[in-house]
Order: sequence, then structure tokens, then C-alpha cells
Amino acid sequence: MCGIIGYVGKGNVIDVILKGLTNLEYRGYDSAGIALRDNNEIKIFKTLGKLINLKNEIEAHKSEIYNPTSGIGHIRWATHGSPSVTNAHPHTCTCGRLVVVHNGIIENYKELREELIKKNCRFVSQTDTEVIAHLVADEFGKIKDLETAVRNSVKKLQGTYAICVMHKDVPDLIVGARKHAPMIVGVGEGENFIASDTPALVEYTKKTIYLDDNEIAIVTKDKIKITDIEGNEVTKKVEVLPWEPVALSKLGYKHFMLKEIHEQPDVIRNVLNGKLYDISEPISLNEVKLNKEILKKLNKIQIIACGTSLHAALAGKYIIEDFAGISVEVEASSEYIYRKTTTDASTLVIGVSQSGETADTITAIKQAKEKGAHVLIITNRPDSNMARLADSLIPLNAGIEVSVAATKSYTAQLISFYLLAMHLAEIKESLDKEYLTQIKHELIQLPTKIEGVLSDTSAIQACARQFSSYKNFIYIARGINLATSLEGALKLKEISYINATGYAAGELKHGPIAMLDETMPVLSILVTGGITYEKVLSNCEEAKARNAKLIALTTSTDTNIDNIFDVVLRIPQVNEILSPVVTCVPLQLLAYYIAEFLGKDVDQPRNLAKSVTVE
Ligand code: F6R
Repeated sequence: MCGIIGYVGKGNVIDVILKGLTNLEYRGYDSAGIALRDNNEIKIFKTLGKLINLKNEIEAHKSEIYNPTSGIGHIRWATHGSPSVTNAHPHTCTCGRLVVVHNGIIENYKELREELIKKNCRFVSQTDTEVIAHLVADEFGKIKDLETAVRNSVKKLQGTYAICVMHKDVPDLIVGARKHAPMIVGVGEGENFIASDTPALVEYTKKTIYLDDNEIAIVTKDKIKITDIEGNEVTKKVEVLPWEPVALSKLGYKHFMLKEIHEQPDVIRNVLNGKLYDISEPISLNEVKLNKEILKKLNKIQIIACGTSLHAALAGKYIIEDFAGISVEVEASSEYIYRKTTTDASTLVIGVSQSGETADTITAIKQAKEKGAHVLIITNRPDSNMARLADSLIPLNAGIEVSVAATKSYTAQLISFYLLAMHLAEIKESLDKEYLTQIKHELIQLPTKIEGVLSDTSAIQACARQFSSYKNFIYIARGINLATSLEGALKLKEISYINATGYAAGELKHGPIAMLDETMPVLSILVTGGITYEKVLSNCEEAKARNAKLIALTTSTDTNIDNIFDVVLRIPQVNEILSPVVTCVPLQLLAYYIAEFLGKDVDQPRNLAKSVTVE
């Protein structure tokens, strides 16, 4: 959601902060701001909309900026108070000497605000964040020590926060603090950084310290001190980031989303690497830290996730139940956390999350842990908060995903579920050995099949052009590709803003069929050789009888079906149970090209954020 970078050091402060914010831009935001310590003053620039507006604003005031030596920057995704220049961060205290940027939500901000108003603090924004500026300034007024002022202030905050603070009277010192929102410290030479996520730093340093909840970072250009909330110094490990700055480059693709779609074959090879290397050998999944006896007896799994990860979870249910015969419940994290669940110490709870920072899923995971469940996390960010809560951790190894719309992380999640289900099947001896070997063989072929889809996208582009003016879409499928239809529809909604809904094909006649006419395209997923093909085809005939425009995504080579459908998108033959890994790719591309034709902001769709750190 929001993004923070703080910098103090020898480099060009404006460049470092703007570059850091640019690298956080993909997370989604509506306004941006920067505070610079320059010529013994604090100078603030804030703008609405894209970062380019902030860059232009700074450029327009270039003659008023001399040689900044430290600064803090922020991109905001509005929660309290609409997107506006006034509500953009940094926020200041009444006298303007203290500045703060903040990610998260302060739940008791109204009470704090009333108390501070009584102390003559003057509020100008509608944000919860502004109370932090006044609160820290009030403390600083008493003790003249910024570190202690921050520490005393955060003790009064309820809710979630990652903050970065500067004060005019304390030159070139930035103070960070966090609770339930990510914050890291970047370690440089003659320069140091504070940020909400690693992409902000990767161009400057790979050495990072991950702050834990209730820790405070006191940072100058030559020194980093971390304390707990009582002021005791804490020794922290310096970790080295696993990826290069090139991960944040589009490498010639027009959008990150297109690049990430094309990365999928290699991502799959990466996920399989070391876990499935010889089809006659068992799956090697040492990441699952439950002993074989427990896994053998395991009879209940709950998977919790949001959005695209929830769709991967739904496919995961089909895969685990099919391979291992274990009953699996799938639930949106936001629902799981507000009801009485049946989770207990014998349940394996799987949290799925690209970012590892989704607030609803983190809360759900914490609840599951409290009930004694073993928690397995599948995430693309082994450095995330969620990963830190895991009893077992399967990292996706998909590389950083910049486009807000998830693509390669989805396929990596699917592959992780195949590996997990096969691992469970091997322990439980629930599948015929020959069949299992065959599945492993076909799993290894999937990257080549996707390469087949990616090598010629002209039919998908033509279909996108033909259908880009429609206002509504229905996606249908049965069985394991129900998840694909939900995910395909979500992709279209997210980046083109076209209303698209995925349905179990058999449900069409129980209501949605009422909407069908020539203005409603129906996209169906038809995989041959399995148990659903004929049934979905019948559902398509029903839709055709209502004049709906029909698009088929199919492995069928039967040319007779060309008479039923307006467009037939053909994909390589693939075993139905493995097919979601292939069928999702043309749907990602279809959504991409429709959004592209409509001129939408593909990588940063409106109102969305890459990691949703508020419940
Ligand atoms: C869809 C998308 C979102 C996320 C959802 C969960 O393209 O990106 O629906 O899937 O916000 O995020 P994670 O997976 O990070 O928990």
C-alpha cells in the first residue's frame, strides 16, 4: 500500500528518495511527498497523483534547494482522508519542525487528536498520521531527544504503523519504528536508509536489517542503532538481499505485467528445481516441518488467502483432495478471521500470499497459530512478516513481481500445490506409483507447453481487439479450472475495469443465464481428455441458444466446435488435473491485451495496491 524511504548520507538525497519511491510505485498510491533537510531547514514538497508530479514539483523549485543532507519520502494509498495534497505525507507538527511519514492505521487517532488539540496543536489534515507528528513533537518538547520522543510516542499508538521521523533541531538523524507493518534499514557506507520494502533500497545496498515489531531504528550516515521499545539496544543480523536491481527493469517489455507473464516458464522450472529432479524419486519437500507420522494421519487442511492467492488455494484444494485424499477447506482470510472456525491442533493451516504482507491473511494465520495449528506459508517473499510467522515455509522463488496484477506468482503457487499434494500422496501412499510418475513427467513438460502459448499470441490479441468494447464478461469452467475462470475474470476486472465474473459452468442455468444475450460474451475453458469437457460444451450450447457471444479456450483439435464458438483459442494438450497452469496464461494475456487496447494503466490499475497491509 503506502511506501516509505528515509535517507541520510553522502549521496544525492533527492535522487535516492525519488528512485526509492519509484521502485515502490508498483505497490499503488494516490499521492506522494518528500521532506528534505536542506540548509538547516526542513523543506516539504507534496503532490497528488503519480510520482512524476512530485518530480516536476521539485524540479520547479530547484532554485530553492541547495544541498540536502537527509530526507524522508512517501507514497500514499488513502485510508483516512481522501487523496489530496493536504492529506499526503510527510505530515508536520504545528511549528513545522518535526516531519513524519507513516504506513498503517492508527486506531486511537481520534482520542489522541482531542488530547493534542487541548494542548494547542493545530491539525490541518484528515489523516490519522498527523497525530503522530504532534505526539512526537510534544514529547520532543519535553525531553529534547528524538529517539526517546519517538519511543515514548509509539507506546501511546494503537493500530499498525511503520514510521520515519526527522526533526529540524536534530540534524541528519532519522528515526524509524514499526508495529505490524514492514520496515527495514539499509546499511551503506557513509549513508544509511530506512524503507518499508526492499525494492526501495536495492539500487544502493543489498545489506538490510529487518526491524521487528516494537523496535526503533536510530539512523545517521555513519551509525545504525536498533533498540526495543524500552530503549535497550538490540543486536540484529544484517541480511543480504537475494536479487539484483535488474529485477526491477522491464527488459524491453512494454509493461511489467507482460514481462512477468513471459517469465512463467522459467519461474516454474525454478519452483521445481531441487524438489522434483528425477521422476522416479520422491518429491523433496524438506520445507514441510511436520514429521511423516503426523502427515500420514493428517485429515484436515484449511487454506486461507485473498484475491489471486485465494484462486490458487481453490485449485490447491482440488489438487490435494485428488492426490492425497485429505479434506481441504478454502476460505478468504477476511472471512476466516470473523467467525468461529474448526481449526485445532490437528489441522494443517496453509496461508498463501504473494507479498507475505496481506493484513487479513496475517491476522488469520495468527488466529490459527493461537489454536495450535501447524502453519505452512506459501509466499514469494521469504523475508515477509507472514514468512516469519510460519512453522513451515515454501518460498515461491518467482522473483519480484512488480505489476499489481499477479501473474507469475499465481503459477508458482499452483506448482507449489502440485509439489505439496504429491509429497502428501507419497507419504500417504494414496496414488498409484505409475500414475504419480506420469504426473511428475507431465509437470516437467509444463514450461514447454506455456512457451508454446507465448510463442504466438496473435489469436489472443485479435480476440482482445474484437471484444475490448464489451462491458461485461462471463467466464465458465468446471472442476479444477473453476479456479482458472475466477482468476481469468479477476485479471480482466483489475486491469481493464470491465465487469467480469467467473462461474462454475453448471451454475449458469441456476441464475446467471438470465443475463445472457448478444451483449454478454461467455468465455469457457474446455480441456479434453478429462471429466468435464462434454459437460462444459453442453453449457456453451445453452449460452449460444441465448445469443451470447462465445469464446472457447481449449485443448480440443476438433474443428467442428468452430461452428459453435465465435472465437476458439487453442492451447497445447495437457492433462486436465495439471491444466490450470497452462489455461491461466492465455487468460492473463487476454486481460492484458484488452487493457492495453483500452489504454489503461496496466501495471498500476486504479484503486489497487500490490500489498494490502490494512484489514
Ligand atoms: C490480483 C492481486 C490481488 C492479490 C491479493 C492478495 O492480481 O494481486 O488480488 O492476489 O491482494 O495478495 P497476496 O497474494 O500478496 O496476499
